[in-house]
Amino acid sequence: MLETIQITADYLRNQSKLNPTIGIILGTGLGGLVQEIDIEKSISYEEIPNFPVSTVEGHSGRLIFGTINNVPVLAMQGRFHYYEGYDMKEVTFPVRVMKQLGIETLIVSNASGGLNPDYAVGDIMVINDQINMFGDNPLMGKNINELGPRFPDMSEPYSKKFIAEALKIGKENDIDLKQGVYVGTTGPTFETPAEYKMFRILGADAVGMSTVPEVIVARHMEMQCFGISIITDSGVPGQIVEVSHEEVQEVAAAAEPKMTKVIKELVSRI
Ligand code: HPA
Repeated sequence: MLETIQITADYLRNQSKLNPTIGIILGTGLGGLVQEIDIEKSISYEEIPNFPVSTVEGHSGRLIFGTINNVPVLAMQGRFHYYEGYDMKEVTFPVRVMKQLGIETLIVSNASGGLNPDYAVGDIMVINDQINMFGDNPLMGKNINELGPRFPDMSEPYSKKFIAEALKIGKENDIDLKQGVYVGTTGPTFETPAEYKMFRILGADAVGMSTVPEVIVARHMEMQCFGISIITDSGVPGQIVEVSHEEVQEVAAAAEPKMTKVIKELVSRI
């Protein structure tokens, strides 16, 4: 795997003169942040050696080198999901490559179902912890000691410093930010009412189908993580209605400017 990562990183290093230390993964309906990036180079995933190809609607699949407020970033517009059939190592491969390219901070975004009764559809949640309910882990198998330890510490999956900074940015800009635990599960089914209830009982505030694998791999390599989730539908008993991918995309897109503002500001302060 090390060699494969190296080949991809070498290819990408030759694509841009920028040396970003901040990586960003944009989730469902959240690709609009790209408009805030001064793009230096945009590469379709198909062109990148060893990269899986994203298949889901709403994920355009481009890797972007550029700057936000003059800060160099490497952004993924669209990610790879476990439910698409990729294994955990494929899902997290881009994060491995990012580290090789010098990325030290990983910012992740996603759409999720709200479990906390205080949340409303359209709310933005800063992720302060996560629960892995994928029934799988990207670090299974022989550990590559060059990348990180066999038994990585997960006591601070999301950087407390970034969480505090983001909440400050929220206050300064009059953006209401919730804070909570994200549970990641395989999908592709949305949850049954009983499953939403179970995840709430387990201690989660929002549920989604991504992010957890990427953050595990990022922490394995000691990258600092910041995560933000848009509550696109409700899993709260009494509020559960039929949900579709299109609605998830619509709600995410509507809430996106606020999320973009937070990320844009945070990038300048890292
Ligand atoms: N469940 C799981 N994933 C999701 C949801 C949900 O309700 N909404 C957006 N992604």
